[in-house]
Amino acid sequence: MSKEYQSAVRLCEVLYDLCGVLLDDTKLYLIENRVGGLMREMGFKTYDQLADAAKRSDAASIRDSLVDALTTNETYFFRDQQIFAGLSNHLVRQIEQDARKSGVRPKLRIWSAASSTGQEIYSVLFTLANAIDSLDAWDITLLATDVSPAAVAQARAGTYADHEVTRGLPVALRDKFMTQTKSGWQVLPQWRNRITFAQHNLINDLSGGTRFDVILCRNVTIYFDAKTRKRVFEKLTQRMLPDGYLFVGGSETLLDLGDAYKPYRLGSAVCYRPQLHEPVSPPAVAPTAGLGLSGSKLFSQFKG
Ligand SMILES: C[S@@+](CC[C@H](N)C(=O)[O-])C[C@H]1O[C@@H](n2cnc3c(N)ncnc32)[C@H](O)[C@@H]1O
Repeated sequence: MSKEYQSAVRLCEVLYDLCGVLLDDTKLYLIENRVGGLMREMGFKTYDQLADAAKRSDAASIRDSLVDALTTNETYFFRDQQIFAGLSNHLVRQIEQDARKSGVRPKLRIWSAASSTGQEIYSVLFTLANAIDSLDAWDITLLATDVSPAAVAQARAGTYADHEVTRGLPVALRDKFMTQTKSGWQVLPQWRNRITFAQHNLINDLSGGTRFDVILCRNVTIYFDAKTRKRVFEKLTQRMLPDGYLFVGGSETLLDLGDAYKPYRLGSAVCYRPQLHEPVSPPAVAPTAGLGLSGSKLFSQFKG
């Protein structure tokens, strides 16, 4: 085994300790591609030097740069469209119906828990804004977090290059929610301000007491091993309302959690719900029929 290989493996171990992302032998080539620039910028000659520096207690900015460089931030607007259709055609309608019956202000709390550069949470916001007559009449909490500070900074700024905007965002939505800038597009401040952005590492506990109706934790646990995946989903479970909905990526699973969650259909979107819910087929006639008990129970969670 070459010294350089061993040194690259050590850097991968540092990344694993930092955020649970596992770069195995098949991914080692990413090290060279992604940290070369960072090493030159910081004056490190070997991966060992970078690994040692990242371990120093006063080296938070080196750790942040390493995480920025080595995490995969691939994302795009309306990735898996059925999720957004499920939210607008089913969940929103159910909450509205329950609000009409109870006379209580409709409430919805959504957390995009590995939000990358923000396309996911903006897709949620644009969906809600189009599905709901007056967002201000609702009590809506939108939180977007990611471990990568650079990704969070872009999400918070809401700035996108042309090629990012053309990936999944219909022109009509772009023109409604964004303005053109010299280098691309930016989400208008009145929309950006509706979202809270923060750096958060999924292997840690989330601060604050909010529990969410919907958690999106998509296309991130594919980078974790089974142990980390289990730990992360257990933490997410603690932050979810008992009647909540958890969305994972198309190639991800909650099998590691045993029967803590059951698959559930929200329209044609598959999500997971805490196990008190039996799996339900897509509604045959009325768009809200598939929610059964959950809608009204969900709404009652919101009181207070
Ligand atoms: C491939 S992107 C997925 C983005 C979006 N959820 C989607 O599905 O389009 C994965 C994101 O997970 C983030 N990530 C990796 N490890 C994390 C951790 N321990 N805590 C929070 N975010 C993490 C990465 O920084 C990256 O932005």
